Amino acid sequence: MVQRIGILTGGGDCPGLNAAIRAATRRSLDRGYAVVAVRRGWRGLLDGECAPLGRQEISGILPRGGTIIGTSRTNPYKIEGGVERVLESFAREELTALVAIGGEDTLGVAARLFAEHAFPVVGVPKTIDNDLSATDYTFGFDTAVTVATEAIDRLHTTAESHNRVMVVEVMGRHTGWIAVMSGIAGGADVILIPEQPLTVEACCDEIRHRHERGKTFSIVVVSEGYELTYETGEKRAVAQDAAVDEFGHVRLGGVGSVLAAEIEERTGFETRVTVLGHVQRGGTPTPHDRVLATRYGLKAADLVHEKRFGTMAALQGDSIVDVPLAEAVAELKTVPPEWYEVAKAFFG
Ligand code: F6P
Repeated sequence: MVQRIGILTGGGDCPGLNAAIRAATRRSLDRGYAVVAVRRGWRGLLDGECAPLGRQEISGILPRGGTIIGTSRTNPYKIEGGVERVLESFAREELTALVAIGGEDTLGVAARLFAEHAFPVVGVPKTIDNDLSATDYTFGFDTAVTVATEAIDRLHTTAESHNRVMVVEVMGRHTGWIAVMSGIAGGADVILIPEQPLTVEACCDEIRHRHERGKTFSIVVVSEGYELTYETGEKRAVAQDAAVDEFGHVRLGGVGSVLAAEIEERTGFETRVTVLGHVQRGGTPTPHDRVLATRYGLKAADLVHEKRFGTMAALQGDSIVDVPLAEAVAELKTVPPEWYEVAKAFFG
């Protein structure tokens, strides 16, 4: 029987998606299989929106950001009859396997479909947040860290010229991977992340201490998911919108401004905020992300070929291995304390 392999990208886009699509497609075409783009994540299977993916379609996409097959944050489990529609479309398109490229949400759906319906799916881990378990790194993360680091470097010079505190708000949802990595790389003076909630008072002490030592500016990197934490034990979460999406996520963002106001009021130092936002997700992937996504894409195609469904391509050390999808989505991969210790060595 001719294999017809569907590929979808779900959740927030990230640099490297096209590299993964290209690799999985190339290897499958080389085996004589047909490849089909499932458009806009799980939405494509709900609505039966599919299109052939051939050599022509994947030509020249390696360095391109975003995803040529579209994405969405669609959860078939939150839509009446959604799972049935996914299964029907899959059968109607005569697909024999699906490569789902996504983060915890997209792959959570894949894991559940596999567990409940023996759905023939393999996963590829992507997200700028790097919060997926069972893999050392997701692709997209390195590009986001590179963008954030460059921004921190640039903010240093203007902070120094004006004797200011610069607060840089980065993405990462409920984990502080982007903040910690870019903060270490960029030499941040304080880094605030959800996993290790340093208090606002302690943050201000670090800045004061630094200025007492003769420094005239400071850089504070704050992860969007950090809850303002006070010595009294009070916590204040900041979000743009309290409404949740189909996966139960609120839209984060805005903590940087609140923190900047707090710092200025408590320390008396003039403070500005920069919110990096979706710039971290846009544009061309770094060479590291291109290579990682390519290796994942090839592995996913091999897992499909071997009918090793319910698995995900993962990076462990330097090796690309396969892990159960269920393991990858079981819990968020948070920043380990030892990483934060590296960052803390340079606070204040
Ligand atoms: O998961 C990736 C991510 O960029 C998070 O860091 C961020 O909180 C969220 O997506 C933003 O989502 P949206 O693109 O829907 O605004």
